[in-house]
Amino acid sequence: MKQVVLVTGGAGYIGSHTVVELQNSGYDVVIVDNFSNSQSSVVENIGKITGITPKLYSFDLADEKACTAFFHKEHIDAIIHFAAYKYVGESVEQPLRYYKNNLYSTLNLLTAMKEHHIKQLVFSSSCTVYGTPDVLPVVETTPVKPATCPYGNTKQIIEEILRDVCHTEHEYKVIALRYFNPIGAHPSALIGELPNGVPQNLIPYITQTAAGIREYLQVFGGDYNTPDGTCLRDYIHVVDLAKAHVKALHRMQNQNMEQNYEVFNIGTGKPSSVLDIIHAFEKVTGKVLPYKIVSRRVGDVEKVWADTTKANQIMGWKALLNLEEMLASAWNWEMKHNQAK
Ligand code: UD1
Repeated sequence: MKQVVLVTGGAGYIGSHTVVELQNSGYDVVIVDNFSNSQSSVVENIGKITGITPKLYSFDLADEKACTAFFHKEHIDAIIHFAAYKYVGESVEQPLRYYKNNLYSTLNLLTAMKEHHIKQLVFSSSCTVYGTPDVLPVVETTPVKPATCPYGNTKQIIEEILRDVCHTEHEYKVIALRYFNPIGAHPSALIGELPNGVPQNLIPYITQTAAGIREYLQVFGGDYNTPDGTCLRDYIHVVDLAKAHVKALHRMQNQNMEQNYEVFNIGTGKPSSVLDIIHAFEKVTGKVLPYKIVSRRVGDVEKVWADTTKANQIMGWKALLNLEEMLASAWNWEMKHNQAK
């Protein structure tokens, strides 16, 4: 019988790409999404890609009653938990909103897992847990430093909660994937990054600027201690990232986890600056991108990139797509999406 995977935030950017990879790998998927930063058309488009429109429930996981009712209705074998607020800058301005949403939803899920004997969870964590690291690249054993923003702190706290729960619930299998910066879109250009309102992440802001929707890109900070003065990040194709979730599920189901709580870095291991991204985008698309260097954004980390040896060797996962492929797919998505409007 097919395993049923609940994907929370499955209509979102990383969630939707992961649903496609799960369905392609033979899993049945149920999505829960409150559409706070996504649109219901995404679910139809997943159906167009895979031939299977996933079952969808629309409610807020931070709502305990709604969460309880859902688990009484649906049989679930494993959970991949994406649903969360995710913006560094916004979290600095609205910390309580971030703590309430990200923590309540996870606590409600963990409570339901216990009640319904669901033992497998993949958690969507982030390189943000490393704060401002002293040594680069970061490995999974690099000490977790104080988070630079409430968003990052929610990821740190949830990782601690999961570690504590796994300590007592010996049958649980939990994998936290620490994503670096996911960008790009599915090759079909039917799903991609679709933020509501003005984009806060770099790539959708770039593609919308190139498409003429935004006047110019603001580069946050040109005076960092990096080769060109702009921040360094480890950008990874969202399809490569989505595939890491299937590998994590396989690892839990093949009963070969060394401990019942494990963490993995999911990146490419290659740092790129904001200016590198702009120049690579211009090369790939032939467009000139207007930009201005402005002051630093509160909460930003100067530089972070991954050592992915653990995921490569233990999970058998590797990022395959390069920066040009990431940016070309992001631009392809932006153009198709705008034409479709
Ligand atoms: C952060 C997290 C990342 C998470 C993401 C979710 C860290 C280190 N990383 O990514 O794990 O997935 O939030 O939102 O906390 N930039 C501009 N102009 C813009 C937008 C961004 O210059 O208009 C710059 C930022 O300063 C940063 C880079 O582009 O240097 C990437 O920013 P962004 O795409 O927002 O992601 P992070 O904040 O790095």
